[in-house]
Amino acid sequence: MTQKLIIANWKMYPTLSDSLVLASQLKGQLEGVKGVHIVLAPPTAWLASIVESWTHKPSNLDFAIQNIWPEDQGAYTGEVSAYMVKSIVKYALVGHSERRRFQSEDDELVREKVQACLRWKIRPIVCIGEHKRAIDAEGRVDSYQLQRVMNQLTEALHGVKGDDIRKVIIAYEPVWAITQGATSHPAKPAYAEAMIRRIRDRLAEKYGKLTAEEIQILYGGSVNTSNASEYLRQQGVNGLLVGEISVKAKDFVEICRISVSH
Ligand code: PGA
Repeated sequence: MTQKLIIANWKMYPTLSDSLVLASQLKGQLEGVKGVHIVLAPPTAWLASIVESWTHKPSNLDFAIQNIWPEDQGAYTGEVSAYMVKSIVKYALVGHSERRRFQSEDDELVREKVQACLRWKIRPIVCIGEHKRAIDAEGRVDSYQLQRVMNQLTEALHGVKGDDIRKVIIAYEPVWAITQGATSHPAKPAYAEAMIRRIRDRLAEKYGKLTAEEIQILYGGSVNTSNASEYLRQQGVNGLLVGEISVKAKDFVEICRISVSH
């Protein structure tokens, strides 16, 4: 059984002192949690401090950056490149729906970011997802919404060659399911499974069935301690991308523990 991959996207929630407290709580509580791979994505400004604070990092824990710029170095005020963080992170979130929405990131930029990650041996976590439910309760498919997801997938992976495809991780996050302030509308586990199956089928068309089976696909969107297990039980769900709940040490650790048994 392959280990599940659980990613904590701290977004723009914790201040520096919050982040240091959270890191030290996680350090204590995650000790001994084996059989799951855990990746923490703190706000970029605190990333190096958090990495440095983590002495004796266990082998099943790594760090991610929440965003990168595709060029390596130069006059790009406010940006940080894959080249610059390659020694402190193994993963990078790419194309998160909040960046597509608030920073107008398009498929072309997402594709360039994927390429930059692969160039510097960082595994890109490519986020894709539709704005409205693509399959309704009766099983009817909204082909426009479905096509959006598939387009994001193919555009992001365009030009990824050979073995590199196995380094890419897909995070399927229906935009309508992501926590927004006080509201959260988690997707039904069966819905997540159906969408992930379609995503994997598309990958199989392009890269072959065997390769598609090896590509890790995660679910994200209002994951919490009560629903994590349900998602992980679904066929083809290789892990979770956790946002808001991931800054609550106790809850996040519980999700990691739950994942061990799946
Ligand atoms: P959420 O966010 O768990 O707060 O819904 C997930 C994400 O956007 O990565």
